[in-house]
Amino acid sequence: MKRFFILFLVTTMTLAAHAAAGKTIRISTNATDLILQVGENGRLYQAYFGERLLNATEADAFSWEAGRGSDGGATKRGWDVMSGNGNEDYYEPAIAIMHNDGNPSTYLYYETHVQTAVEGGTETVVTLKDDKYPVTVKLHYVAYTQENVFKSWTEIVHHEKKPISMQQYASSMLYFSHLNYYLTQFACDWAKEVQMTTEQLSAGKKVLDTKLGVRSCMVMDPFFEVGFDQPAQEQQGKVLMGTLGWTGNFRFTFEVDNAGNLRVISGINPYASNYELAPGKVFTTPEAIFTLSYHGTSEGSRNFHDWARAYSLKDGQGDRMTLLNNWENTYFDFDQEKLSGLMKEAKTLGVDMFLLDDGWFGNGDNARNSDHAGLGDWDVNHAKLPGGLPALTKAAEDAGVKFGLWIEPEMVNPCSELYAQHKDWVIEYPNRESYYYRNQLVLDLANPKVQDYVYGVVENILKDNPEVAYFKWDCNSPIVNIYSPYLGSKGQNQLYIDHIRGLYNVLERVKKNYPDTPMMLCSGGGSRCDYEALKYFTEFWCSDDTEPVERCYIQWGFSQFFPIKSMCAHVTDWNRKASIKFRTDVASMCKLGFDLGLKGLSADELAYCQQAIKNWNRLKPAILDGDLYRLVSPYETNHMAVVEVTKDKNKAVLFSYDLHPRFSEKVVPVRLQGLDPQRTYRVEEINLMPGQQSWMRGNGQTFSGDYLMKVGLDTFSASDMTSRVVEITAE
Ligand code: DGJ
Repeated sequence: MKRFFILFLVTTMTLAAHAAAGKTIRISTNATDLILQVGENGRLYQAYFGERLLNATEADAFSWEAGRGSDGGATKRGWDVMSGNGNEDYYEPAIAIMHNDGNPSTYLYYETHVQTAVEGGTETVVTLKDDKYPVTVKLHYVAYTQENVFKSWTEIVHHEKKPISMQQYASSMLYFSHLNYYLTQFACDWAKEVQMTTEQLSAGKKVLDTKLGVRSCMVMDPFFEVGFDQPAQEQQGKVLMGTLGWTGNFRFTFEVDNAGNLRVISGINPYASNYELAPGKVFTTPEAIFTLSYHGTSEGSRNFHDWARAYSLKDGQGDRMTLLNNWENTYFDFDQEKLSGLMKEAKTLGVDMFLLDDGWFGNGDNARNSDHAGLGDWDVNHAKLPGGLPALTKAAEDAGVKFGLWIEPEMVNPCSELYAQHKDWVIEYPNRESYYYRNQLVLDLANPKVQDYVYGVVENILKDNPEVAYFKWDCNSPIVNIYSPYLGSKGQNQLYIDHIRGLYNVLERVKKNYPDTPMMLCSGGGSRCDYEALKYFTEFWCSDDTEPVERCYIQWGFSQFFPIKSMCAHVTDWNRKASIKFRTDVASMCKLGFDLGLKGLSADELAYCQQAIKNWNRLKPAILDGDLYRLVSPYETNHMAVVEVTKDKNKAVLFSYDLHPRFSEKVVPVRLQGLDPQRTYRVEEINLMPGQQSWMRGNGQTFSGDYLMKVGLDTFSASDMTSRVVEITAE
């Protein structure tokens, strides 16, 4: 009877699949169509992904990409939307399952699909089923109509008797047929984030991945650009820009096949993670997020920025606070009096908030007087701060600034009370000598008790000190000594994934209970910067590298994917050979903050900073919520320029930097973008030092938008590390 039922089921499914042959699913934004089509065999193929078609009808189907096949017709191989292991496609699969009977193949057939309206666009859910095993895969695609951004993720569920072992579980698989492909990647290290390099892809695979667990972007960032038929350009050409919303190990695979077609697979890196999925449990992959631009990366970035502010980034439409941080000013060496003094300095400077960094907690032998001790012991250090957090928040209130606090709650120093009491809460081998990254270890967030503890760090602070208005949430170590005591000897394959899910449980609780508390995502600089984390964080710390010339490259790089309002940039003493004006002008193109002492500033420098902060506050609508146009690249010249334009094109701010130009170098005007050519704009150089005259030709005059975009402004010079900020106002 049971055998008959299975036979009936299989036959029905096969018939249903054939019945659907030729069915198309059109997933559209205003600019792009992704078209899927059910093949004769009932499998689902990518038929088209590109510029939006006028007639996406079945009449045009003969010319679609999948119709050309991938192998000159040698097999029936097409562009399977979720290619499974062991099928006739002998390239990298998107999904790979070992079934209970030891069969390692997955063939997925179209079952149904539904399309519904969601905020900002449409969601399409396609259900695929294996014809021989009770495995269901749901593909989710959200297409954001205006922003031309797609999100896709996968749900996998099965009803085999025992858990299946999943070796691959991608979030997205996309195919392209062009003559040439150029990959731009963003390599990293501490203080060397987002270093952009481009290479041509040739036959075979190029993989971008990391295995760092939590400080997961330390060596490679989770985003990429693919230029078609030419390297990705700022202003023109077709380019795919993609990223993964996952705060752990990621992997992007770019494979050029025998027919010269490219497949791009995005997902969790399955390294050491053959995931055991229990019957009936749903495995949900992270979101792959991508856009196709037909006018270069500049447009692609604006797609991402608009989408993030509207639908993804925490408080994406909200305001941001300027701040004074104490880290580089004091490091661990401070007391109540010193901090109270700095709060007054914050007020004098004119910023919104004072941010107390590392070193305020731990007591006795575990006092956090260096990075060797204290992580895990979140009681105020009584020797340094006898009045505790209440005295600090009171001092901030008296000074007239908000108070923010640094925490690193996912970590523990072996030299701490927490470690002494809960060694079993720590990711560490039971039988090997541990090695440490920055003298610390990672707490085991697969363990719900540890999740409670980490959440409790935030709750305990805010319960007693609701005046704490902001957190800087740091994460300075990758996962090392990879063994979860909680998951035990049978569960280590789940560690990398369950750990990140545990982190999201914590962050979800924080967001739910403290929705209005802004938080900065930090990871030894910019080693965490993904769109899932940024659902919980209003901004991220791009890098500890605040040397202003290097920062130009870093800001250029991160702005490819992230909106300016999410990118924290602080003025520090890194490179005091650069003027305070240059350092501040560089930070001003992002979310402005300071991390220095006012005692090191002359009266003129202080006056300059105070005015620059006022200017920044006034120009927030353009800087934080406007359209970013990257005009001149530091990778191609000795200069950099960007302009930020309000959506109504009434106001724009031009940031123009001379990095290390050559002596007497020829410079040309900077041509603006994004203005209304028909309107008249007044241009005025701002952020001048007291007594400094602007030498910019046309300063204070009016020009048409057309002139400013075709002729431009003379803002570059051949002087080392100089800058100009120009306010552009429609008359
Ligand atoms: C690394 C961060 O990037 C720094 O800004 C600072 O917060 C230190 N950690 C503190 O330990």
